[in-house]
Amino acid sequence: MRKIAVAMAKGGVGKTTTAVNLAHGLSMLGKNVLLVDCDTQGQTSKFLGVDPEYGLYEFITRRDKNGNFISRNEVIHSTRKNLWFLAGGIKLVELKNWLGEQAADVRQTILSTALVPQKGTLDYLIFDCAPGWDVLSVNILMAVDEVLCPVALQAPSLEGLKTFFGYLVSAQKLNSNLQLKYVLPTMFDRRTRQSFEIMKQLKKIFNKQICDPIHYNVRLSEAPAHGQTIFEYRASAVGANDYNKLIRRVMSNGNR
Ligand SMILES: Nc1ncnc2c1ncn2[C@@H]1O[C@H](COP(=O)(O)OP(=O)(O)O)[C@@H](O)[C@H]1O
Ligand SMILES: [Mg+2]
Repeated sequence: MRKIAVAMAKGGVGKTTTAVNLAHGLSMLGKNVLLVDCDTQGQTSKFLGVDPEYGLYEFITRRDKNGNFISRNEVIHSTRKNLWFLAGGIKLVELKNWLGEQAADVRQTILSTALVPQKGTLDYLIFDCAPGWDVLSVNILMAVDEVLCPVALQAPSLEGLKTFFGYLVSAQKLNSNLQLKYVLPTMFDRRTRQSFEIMKQLKKIFNKQICDPIHYNVRLSEAPAHGQTIFEYRASAVGANDYNKLIRRVMSNGNR
């Protein structure tokens, strides 16, 4: 099972867009995929056009809102063929409190332990992360091997990268398998010099990890309002083509 976190210390860089389209694209190729929304904003549900009753909160705590036991298999939501989903949203605030109350020696690995039984049935586990650094982010970085970091090709985005690197280094001290595997330039706009300049800088720093960029594409920004992925909304769009390239890269395990 491949375990990938789509993460970056900045909001609005295309994390959710990437997580959703990567997950759906892989599932369309016959892979069994579980997508997990780790953001209190709960945008991933909207992007998929679903509103599951249960999600990551129940998956980890194994309790419903009345405190009754609920099994993990019951809370995983089936959204498309081969694509399963654990919703995030505001309940994750309570989840973080709950995690904070657990014994210090297990607190950071609760998610990783909870996911062990899924290993046999899934090909890909994809986490759509929140921008910040907290007990839940740490749990995610303990549960994955690979990090995919979207970087918007706009001026302040390299700042977010620096912050994010700090997080990664701290997490690698606890999880030695953790690798920054993909740096994905997003919102690439041929009309701006900035896009080319940041792209050049990124290539220099991340020669191995850099992926072909995702263009700024209006269809990508329209699809969530329809609760559709780009492959459902407009499979012929530039954005769909760009995400297909990323999917091939991920399937070849990062090799170009
Ligand atoms: N390549 C793109 N071209 C145009 N709009 C995009 C692109 N990627 C993301 N968007 C839009 O930008 C906004 C932020 O993207 P999102 O994936 O939610 O970022 P994050 O999860 O990092 O906060 C959303 O409205 C999304 O539809
Ligand atoms: Mg998001």
